[in-house]
Order: sequence, then structure tokens, then C-alpha cells
Amino acid sequence: MDGLKRQAAARALDEVRDGMKLGLGTGSTAKHFVDLLGEKVRGGLKVVGVPTSEATRAQAQACGIALTTLDEIDHLDLTVDGADEVDAALNLIKGGGGALLREKIVAAASDRMIVIADDSKWVDALGRFPLPIEVIPFGLAATRAAIAKAFAEAGVAGQLVLRTAKDGHVFVTDGGHWIVDAHLGRIEDAPRLAGLLSVIPGVVEHGLFIGLAGTVVLAAAQGIRVVERR
Ligand code: A5P
Repeated sequence: MDGLKRQAAARALDEVRDGMKLGLGTGSTAKHFVDLLGEKVRGGLKVVGVPTSEATRAQAQACGIALTTLDEIDHLDLTVDGADEVDAALNLIKGGGGALLREKIVAAASDRMIVIADDSKWVDALGRFPLPIEVIPFGLAATRAAIAKAFAEAGVAGQLVLRTAKDGHVFVTDGGHWIVDAHLGRIEDAPRLAGLLSVIPGVVEHGLFIGLAGTVVLAAAQGIRVVERR
């Protein structure tokens, strides 16, 4: 699986040009991309990156990739990131690694987003992977009730589980928020659910990435498949 992730990352690297401003994703697949990009940079490629997490920032710095922020610049040429699920419309679930908020800000500020993944991430319908929803700790019970109402309106149902870290404490995002993971099984209308979640005051962001990915590079044992959004 790790070999497939690296192959997808290597294919995305073909799209990188000298002088580009790049969004750098988070997770085990994006880690390969940052690693390979670092090799190119050490070979003379000139790019500047905006990391989507503190983990990616540390990795990119160690690789010698020049970094900036979306405070200093207001747009990026290309973001390359992984995903937890991808459907045929190239809508995504992201946030398994907890970086969904910065990932979405960076993807939305990019002219183009390429998702890199092994083909196990390709699904008929989103939702088997628990949907991460980043919330403000204040008023959590009220926010959970509002989320449950949004689920009912969108025709989905399932448990909402507050994410904990390996040490058993509540998982805290890079932005200082919490995450509830929604075990929905199948989301028939992901754009509708995304819209309903986005207007809940205590929801900072959710892991449905609708209309952001333009290209998906899927690596399978049989080879690489590149899917463009229609
Ligand atoms: C991080 O918050 C996520 O959105 C990741 O991009 C996603 O979980 C994919 O991670 P892997 O490449 O490790 O599967």
C-alpha cells in the first residue's frame, strides 16, 4: 500500500513546475509527495509551499522546501493532498488525520487541487469512512444536536463520536478545536449535507470537500489511473 501511495505522489510531482506556489497536504500519502518534492528542490527546483498542518510544516522544513503562509500570499497554483474517500464526482471525505480545516483553506485558495491516493479510497458513495466534523468545544451538546438535525434533513443517520488521541485525551486540532466523527455508512447527497453542516454556528468545518478536487491520481497494483473532474 505504501508503494502505491508513493507512485501516486510521484505522478502528481510531474505536474509541478518551477516557480509554483504549492499547497502541501497532510497524511501518509501526502508525506510521500513532500518527500519526493524535497528531492527535486535539493536538485534545484524552485517552489514555495504552504503546509496544511504542523506535521507537514516540520517535514517540509526538514526536506529543505521553502515555506510561506496564506497571510503572506493570497493564492496558490496547485495543492497536492491525500483523501480518505473519493467518489466519481471527485467529492471527498478528508480529515482522518485531523487537518481538514487548514486542508480546506489551502485547497480553496488553489487554482488546482490534485488528490493522490491508492485505489482503496475510490468509493461508489461517500460515508463508509467516518465523516470528521471540526467543532468549537463551547456548547458541544447544542452543536451535536444541530448536527443531528442536519443529518435528519439530509436523510442520513449514525453515531457521532468525539475523537480522542492515542493517550485517551480529547484530540485537539492544530486550530485548537475538537473533532466529532460521524459514522453515517452512506451519504447519498454529499453536497446537500455539506451545505447543511456549514451553517451550524459551532461547526468550524467539515470533511466533505465538494467541487475542490480537479484531478485524482489513483494508484493500483495494475497501474495508475488519472481521473479529471467533468
Ligand atoms: C488529513 O487530515 C487527511 O485529510 C488526509 O489527507 C487523509 O486522511 C488521507 O490520509 P492518508 O494519505 O494517510 O490515507
